[in-house]
Amino acid sequence: MTDTPVKLEGIQAVVFDAYGTLFDVNSSVGKLASEIGEKAQGLSVLWRQKQLEYTWLRSLMGVHADFWQVTREALDFALAEQSIDDPGLADELMTFYLKLDAYPDVAAAIAALRSKGKRLAILSNGSPSMLEAMVRHAGLEKQFEHVLSVEEVAIYKPSRRVYRLAMQKLHLQDAPSVCFVSANTWDAQAAAQFGFQVVRIARTPKRDDNIPGKPARIIESLSEIKDLV
Ligand code: LAC
Repeated sequence: MTDTPVKLEGIQAVVFDAYGTLFDVNSSVGKLASEIGEKAQGLSVLWRQKQLEYTWLRSLMGVHADFWQVTREALDFALAEQSIDDPGLADELMTFYLKLDAYPDVAAAIAALRSKGKRLAILSNGSPSMLEAMVRHAGLEKQFEHVLSVEEVAIYKPSRRVYRLAMQKLHLQDAPSVCFVSANTWDAQAAAQFGFQVVRIARTPKRDDNIPGKPARIIESLSEIKDLV
């Protein structure tokens, strides 16, 4: 017998992180893995790590550039660091980054929330054109009331300005009326510290970071969301 999930109270909207939560950031390198060979996994991990680092560094430096540029700069670093010299590879990987695979549990979870009448949004570091392409490629373009990009505030997560943007766009006054869903520990925790009720999806077994903020729930699959809100 499984325990009945304890619902989150007072949720008006469910807001999703994109990269790593709805979409698999490793699926770009994955599509060219046989061409890249044994360095593929290391490249993908370093690319993501540098991409995030560069968002944090630029936000602290006060020198914003959009996620397309940051993603390319991180990729160029990762390719150089891994001594991968393959002309055209970076362009190909960037093109695949516009068509990242949605995780297999996404479409049904979103449809279930929609059939319950929930307001849904995405809040992401991605630039508007990156998000638009990716959401369309996954066939999810009709499912979200808002696909929100940090470009509107020109600073990256975990700035509170980003989380506040979601409240403004959804016309919500109280942070706890938002259920925020992220697989990125730091994003989940920062959103919780901001005041959202956070559900972290443990895409890979991960412990919380030692920073402020604690998710209200940790789930194994997005299929669990519909019973929480
Ligand atoms: C995003 C990053 C955090 O989509 O994955 O905002």
